[in-house]
Parts: sequence; structure tokens; C-alpha cells
Amino acid sequence: MVTAGPTYEKIDPVRFVGNYSSGKMGFAIAGELAGRGARVTLVCGPVSLKIFHPGIERMDVESASHMRDACLQVFPETDGAVMCAAVADYRPKSYAAGKIKRSRKHMLLELVPNDDIAALLGSRKSEKQILVGFALETGDELTHAAGKMEKKNLDFIVLNSLRDPGAGFGVDTNKISILTKEKQILSYPLKTKADVARDIVEEIVRRMETLI
Ligand code: PMT
Repeated sequence: MVTAGPTYEKIDPVRFVGNYSSGKMGFAIAGELAGRGARVTLVCGPVSLKIFHPGIERMDVESASHMRDACLQVFPETDGAVMCAAVADYRPKSYAAGKIKRSRKHMLLELVPNDDIAALLGSRKSEKQILVGFALETGDELTHAAGKMEKKNLDFIVLNSLRDPGAGFGVDTNKISILTKEKQILSYPLKTKADVARDIVEEIVRRMETLI
């Protein structure tokens, strides 16, 4: 299973809380896995990308809670998951059924936390499953990424930093480091997202071979 794209958390019928994820990184990973013969379920938030491969089944979702439900349904049947989606950590506490009018001088939007999907899967994964997370950071990158890997019970985490030119949201390139639970750090130069996906899948395959 691969997750990709953003989640949208509705405020009213015309507005949402979201982020800039295009889905490119997650789609590249799904494509690389399918190209190597894996059957992939691609759980993706609202993106404009298309992907056609007989090995890829796509599940479109909108919010973090939709994505959580899809992931919880699919994950038990998988050999593992790559959590590349940029899931909103918070959602509006309430949804306004009608468009909110510009009538007040100030408006406060109260947010409540979403479930951490990767952590939920991490608490349920079997010894035969591999769980890979991403960390999108803007500072103190290695410390935050290592903390997320441990908290979510991941086998490895792919760190990308918005401080690196050409990395992160929207672009066709990325610059990653892979931090493993064995405390290795593998750093890679700036590459196309297709090539980054190959590096990530190489690490997955290497681990799978040790599980067989
Ligand atoms: O889609 P692109 O435009 O190609 O951009 C790619 C990307 C920058 C979105 C991608 O490379 C990336 O970094 N994805 C993860 C973004 C993110 O949400 O990072 P995070 O550090 O906030 O989350 C850590 C991990 O927990 C991630 O695996 C995330 O999927 C997961 N998570 C986060 C919050 C939440 N409520 N549930 C989760 O499962």
C-alpha cells in the first residue's frame, strides 16, 4: 500500500484546510513498485495526477479520516506500506453546512487533532510487514525524523527537508535521507522523484529479502 497526496479537511462547502502535496512522490513510488511486479493499492488524497498500470488499484479519498479508514481496511492484507501522503494533523472542529459569510471582523477556526495513520498502522503491523514513513521537516531534521520513526514504529523513514532547494512539494525532484531503525543514515543527492522512488524501493526489497 502506498499513500500519496494531501488531505482536505472541510470548513464549509467551498473551503478546506489542506497543503501543497501534489502526489508526485507517492505516485512515483507506486509506479516503481508496480513496475517490479508488486500489486499496489494507492490510497490518494485529492490530486490531479493520473496513473495507469494493471498492478495499481487506486482508492481516492478526501480527508484524513477517509484516508485512515481506507488504510485500516487495506493494510492487514499487505506486505507493507509506504506512507507518503501529507496528512493534515488537524481538522476544523465543526463543519458549516452553508458557506460562511463575510460578516464578522474576526473569525477563529478551532481545530482538533486527526488520528496519526502511520502510528495506527505501526501499532498493528506484524513482523512480516514493512512500514515506511516520510518526514517533511523545516529544521532540526534528523532529530525530528528519528523521533517520528520511533513514535510510529516504522522500519525506516524517508526524510526530506523544505530547506533543500528542489526538494519536497510539487517539484519533480527530491533530496532524501533514509533513517533506519538500526540507526543507519543513508543520504542521497538531489534526484528525480522517479529515481528517489527507486532508492526507496531498493531499501524495501533489501529488507523484504531478510524477512523471507
Ligand atoms: O506530493 P509531492 O508534491 O510530490 O510532495 C511529496 C511530499 C513532500 C508530500 C512527501 O515527500 C512527504 O514528505 N510526505 C510526508 C509529508 C508529511 O506529512 O510529513 P510529516 O512529517 O508531517 O508526517 C510524518 C509521517 O506520518 C508521514 O509518513 C505521514 O504520511 C504520516 N502521518 C502524518 C500525520 C497523520 N495524521 N497521519 C500520518 O500517517
